[in-house]
Parts: sequence; C-alpha cells; structure tokens
Amino acid sequence: MQILVTGGAGYIGSHTLVEIYKAGHTAVVVDNLSNSSKESLKRVAELCEVKEFPFYQLDIRDKETLAEMFVNHKFDACIHFAGLKAVGESVEKPWLYYENNINGTLVLIEMLEKHNCKNIIFSSSATVYGEPAEIPITEQCPKGVCTNPYSWTKSMLEQVLMDVQKADKEWNVVLLRYFNPIGAHKSGRIGENPNGIPNNLMPYITQVAIGKREKLNVFGNDYNTADGTGVRDYIHVVDLAKAHVCALQAIEKQCGLGVYNIGTGKGYSVLDVVKTFERVNDLKIPYTIKSRRPGDIAEYYCNPQKAEKELGWKAENDLEDMCRDSWNWQRNNPNGY
Ligand code: NAD
Ligand code: UFG
Repeated sequence: MQILVTGGAGYIGSHTLVEIYKAGHTAVVVDNLSNSSKESLKRVAELCEVKEFPFYQLDIRDKETLAEMFVNHKFDACIHFAGLKAVGESVEKPWLYYENNINGTLVLIEMLEKHNCKNIIFSSSATVYGEPAEIPITEQCPKGVCTNPYSWTKSMLEQVLMDVQKADKEWNVVLLRYFNPIGAHKSGRIGENPNGIPNNLMPYITQVAIGKREKLNVFGNDYNTADGTGVRDYIHVVDLAKAHVCALQAIEKQCGLGVYNIGTGKGYSVLDVVKTFERVNDLKIPYTIKSRRPGDIAEYYCNPQKAEKELGWKAENDLEDMCRDSWNWQRNNPNGY
C-alpha cells in the first residue's frame, strides 16, 4: 500500500516508517518539523535502505499546500501522527492545541475524502479514559473526563472520526490508544528527541544517565500503588510501530471502525523503571522524591487482548528491552539528532 504518514519525522512516526517499509509498503511523509528534524527521516531512509522518501515540509492546517501534495500522489491509507503532544503546554496554551490538533485533522479528513482515500489510522491515547473506571482498562471501559486540553483533543478527534465512519461506511477508521511509548530502534539510529527539559519519564532518566540532568524528580511516592509511585503500561516504540502495520492489514480487509488499546498489559511503577534501567545498563540514576504532578493518575495499564485477537498484534519487548534500547539511543546520540 502507499501510505500518507503525517508527523512522520517525529518519534513514533519515524519508527513506524521503518516497519511499514519492512512490511513492503511505501510512504509519503508530511511534517512541519515543529517538533522534529529532517535528520530522523535521513536515518529512517538508511535503515530502510532507500535513497530517500518523498517528504513535504508542510503544515496539515494549510489546505492549499496539502492539496498540492495530494495532486502528486495517490494513497491507499493515511497514518495520522501529526499533532502537538506536550500536556503541560496544552494547559498553558489550550487554543494552540485545539487549533493545531483539531483543525489540522479536520483539514486532513477533508482532503482524504476529496481524494477518495477513506482509510485512516489515528494516534489516540490512553488519556481518553481519564481516571479509568476499571483496571486493566479494556476498550469497553467508558471514556472519561480528560485532565488537560491535549487529552481532550484526542478524545474529541476520536469522536469526529467515529462520526465520519458512521456517516459513510466506505471509511475504515482505526483508533489506536497508545499507552506509554518508550524505547528506541535497536540500531540506536532513531529515538525520542525531546526539545528542552523532558516532560516524560524515560527521556528524563536517559538525560540523567548521560549527565545532562543532575537527578530525576519522582513525582509522588504516596499513591495507592505497591511502592507509592505512579504505575504505567510502558510499550516499546517498535512494538507500537508494528501495531500500525497490523492495523493496515485490518484496513485492507475493510474493518470499518476499530478501537484498540496498544500496551503490554503490565503496569510498572516509576521506581520499577528506575531500578530496571540501572540494572540492565549498569548505571546509577540519582533521584529525589517530589510532590505529585498535578493531573497525574495513580495507576493505569491496559488489557491488550482485543488487539491480539482482532489485529494479530502483541507486544514482544519487555521493560528490560525498553530500558536497554532507550539508553543505547541516548548513549549514541548524546545531543539527539
Ligand atoms: P512527535 O512530536 O515526535 O511527532 C509528531 C510530529 O507531528 C512532529 O514531527 C511534528 O513536527 C509534527 N506536527 C505537529 N503538528 C503538525 C502540523 N500541524 N502539521 C504537520 N506536522 C505537524 O510525537 P510522537 O511522540 O511521535 O507522537 C505521535 C502522535 O502520537 C501524536 O499525535 C501524539 O499525540 C500521539 N501520542 C503520543 C504519545 C507519546 O507518549 N509519545 C502517547 C499517546 C499518543
Ligand atoms: N514521572 C516522574 N518524573 C518525571 C516524569 C514522569 O516521576 O520527570 C512519572 C509520572 O508522575 C508518571 C510516570 O512517571 O507517574 C509516567 O509519566 P510520563 O510523563 O512519562 O507519562 P504520562 O503517563 O504522564 O503521559 C504519557 C504522555 C501522554 C500520553 C500518556 C498515555 O505524556 O501524552 O502517556 O499515552 F497521553
């Protein structure tokens, strides 16, 4: 299949490009590089042993430029990663998040419809469950009250895409609710490259390990969890990338609407991650306990069985692999790309 990949230069997009090429598909990438660099695409091309990808540096909100790109290519499906994702920033600048994520997706849907490409895989998030009604979280679990504007954009866009599919059954819409992606490609050539101070746990840990940050702040040790720190379902980014390949297969079989949790089904605490990272990489990560981070939920992990049953997808890497590969990326690229 020929795939339009929006946000393909980013963390998850770059890893997914490698997997979709490995599976025999081709891709055209559009990205405005607001949170990424072209270097990631250069390295993806190396890993895929292709000279380069068709790449358009454009903003998906810009209808005219997007329309020009559509004139040059015909697509079988779109994998839609493009969006802003910093939770804290979304609280400070909600309008920016609603404008970029929602407006961008609406323009994209219009263009896909116009060019008769009615197949889309959307990057959703576990945060649409809000404070989950049950753990492990199944897809039956009702969506909840989101704790920040970023998460609301995911929740609202899920609704938009469900309504589009409901109105026109020619659409195939796959909503992948990612849990916590970490890790990097085994080669150490591509990985997560945050701007400034990392918001998320693993990039913060790897920056402590490389000496860029003094110590990790652990946000709260008084949660109702085994060791008091927050529990999450960490998923290796390469496993997550492979879920998109499986979703493309489902789309080829005209799946209609599909909603899937993409996680391992196992919950690990912040201190589990720190200890595993230290053990597999033979490093020390100094840390200090701080107060809880506003908006954080104590614990969540998913039941990923629906994805296994319907998409034939299952996570293969464990927390040790994730910690090893995250460090391998950081060690080989101390300053990112
Ligand atoms: P990322 O920031 O690395 O990648 C997103 C890419 O989209 C970037 O390259 C950015 O430049 C591009 N982009 C943003 N707005 C754009 C626009 N208007 N037009 C064109 N390009 C634009 O983030 P990621 O971690 O790879 O996440 C990919 C998707 O998965 C995002 O939609 C994100 O919200 C979602 N997601 C991420 C996580 C996570 O923890 N990383 C969890 C759940 C869901
Ligand atoms: N944490 C720390 N110190 C840090 C960073 C994080 O203790 O410096 C803790 C958090 O309190 C939490 C856990 O580590 O308990 C994980 O935090 P992350 O920031 O890595 O991830 P979140 O679960 O908060 O959110 C992430 C993404 C969201 C996404 C969500 C579910 O940031 O965009 O996973 O997919 F929606």
